[in-house]
Amino acid sequence: MALRIDGKKISTEIKDELKVKVEAYKEQGIDICLAVIQVGNDPASSVYVGNKKKACEYIGIRSLAYELEESVTQEELLSLIKTLNEREDVNGILVQLPLPKHIDEDVVIRAIDPKKDVDGFHPYSVGALSIGEEGFVSCTPAGIIQLCKRSGIEIAGKECVVIGRSNIVGKPISMLLLRENGTVTVCHSRTKDLKEVTKRADILVVAIGKPKFITKEYVKDGAVVIDVGIHRNENNKLCGDVDFDDVEPVASAITPVPGGVGPMTIAMLMNNCVEAVKLQK
Ligand code: GUN
Repeated sequence: MALRIDGKKISTEIKDELKVKVEAYKEQGIDICLAVIQVGNDPASSVYVGNKKKACEYIGIRSLAYELEESVTQEELLSLIKTLNEREDVNGILVQLPLPKHIDEDVVIRAIDPKKDVDGFHPYSVGALSIGEEGFVSCTPAGIIQLCKRSGIEIAGKECVVIGRSNIVGKPISMLLLRENGTVTVCHSRTKDLKEVTKRADILVVAIGKPKFITKEYVKDGAVVIDVGIHRNENNKLCGDVDFDDVEPVASAITPVPGGVGPMTIAMLMNNCVEAVKLQK
């Protein structure tokens, strides 16, 4: 039986540690504040934004919510970001993605002051990560590293295979695994013989975006399998990119969906908000 990596438990541990740090900052007169901007009312985004607000409340971070109309112009959004960049009481700025089609996400991400880029999406943050400098690391990949470390999974020297090359998950998790001295291979839609590559993995990170795509035929005996996907099946049940029931018997450790990687993203966002204070000093 594989170890089920409990992201809910580990994320609560991290949030409880952060609570203590936030309290210590409060005693120094520093009240950490995150501004969250949502454009339109996409239901999934509303759930994510609501969970971010709840996490802020839990650890004692002040959150400012900006709910903008779907029709807001790019200029209006950029103007709000400029104001928040200049406000000394705001430590972190998060613009919930995706944005409506008439708004250029890249321009919006670049408008956020890199010192307040708690999502770690700004090219400055991405560049800092790639050359091993201090900066914000995007939350889901940072969460995966914490899941491994806090479950006693060694990364150094391991064959790590990442499926997916997105800017938000695939690329940054590859950089982080490399930083932890893993031997990293990145697979994508043009990879020839995916199974042959994934079968080599000691640690397999799956961010392919296809429900239950990874079955035991893709997994080496004893591998650690990290599932970044989240989908709703025909019965409205959540599932990941990995066929959990099929893969669990061959894995040594595996993240469930829900309750694996998902809760870690918000815990690491909270961590970035606390780190923001140091970066801004
Ligand atoms: N949309 C889906 N995931 C994320 C995330 O981590 N950050 C932001 N800003 N938007 C998202």
